[in-house]
Amino acid sequence: MQLSDAINGRRAVRDYAAEPVHEESIRRLIDAAIQAPSAVNEQPWAFTVVRDQAVLDRVSAAAKAHMLATLPPGGRSEHFRTLLDDADFQIFYHAPALILISGAADSAWIAEDCALAAENLMLAAYGEGLGSCWIGFAQAYLNTDEGKRALGLPADWKPVAPIIVGQPRTPAPPVPRKPPEIRWVG
Ligand SMILES: Cc1cc2nc3c(=O)[nH]c(=O)nc-3n(C[C@H](O)[C@H](O)[C@H](O)COP(=O)(O)O)c2cc1C
Repeated sequence: MQLSDAINGRRAVRDYAAEPVHEESIRRLIDAAIQAPSAVNEQPWAFTVVRDQAVLDRVSAAAKAHMLATLPPGGRSEHFRTLLDDADFQIFYHAPALILISGAADSAWIAEDCALAAENLMLAAYGEGLGSCWIGFAQAYLNTDEGKRALGLPADWKPVAPIIVGQPRTPAPPVPRKPPEIRWVG
């Protein structure tokens, strides 16, 4: 696959087949993730793979409750509230696997480094015929003590990128892009 095909073809997938993602496949995605650049080559990332659906259900319910309790007024909050109030909405879309990328080093660039690793991972997933989606709804909860305990994370890890992966059940629709604002200096 051409790099441009992956860059242009990857979409956030929100509809998954129950079919599990094999361990070798997950290891290949993580191998792609760790090829990302990182500030001062710190490679601060650590990966937590969750395939237990009961755990994902529990984390989804707790993350929804956490978000509902902490949503600020205004902005997109009302849209989020409607979604989060829906008992049938599982924030991980019942994907067969969650790969959480956390910062596990004392670095000022943990968010940047883990996000770069996440994009590599999502492009590699696309290259394997898998769908993926970053689940920001999980982030605030996973950064609480309770959220870290729920996944058995060390207390000093900083969860950055919860990425679900799995076999897409239906192709994700194209998502239009705004034209980029570009200012040329010189
Ligand atoms: C930081 C971040 C957080 C996101 N959180 C969610 C989320 O909680 N739930 C969800 O369905 N999609 C989430 N997404 C996916 C975006 O909605 C999606 O990338 C965007 O709509 C563009 O679509 P595309 O990825 O198909 O190009 C998130 C994406 C990013 C980068």
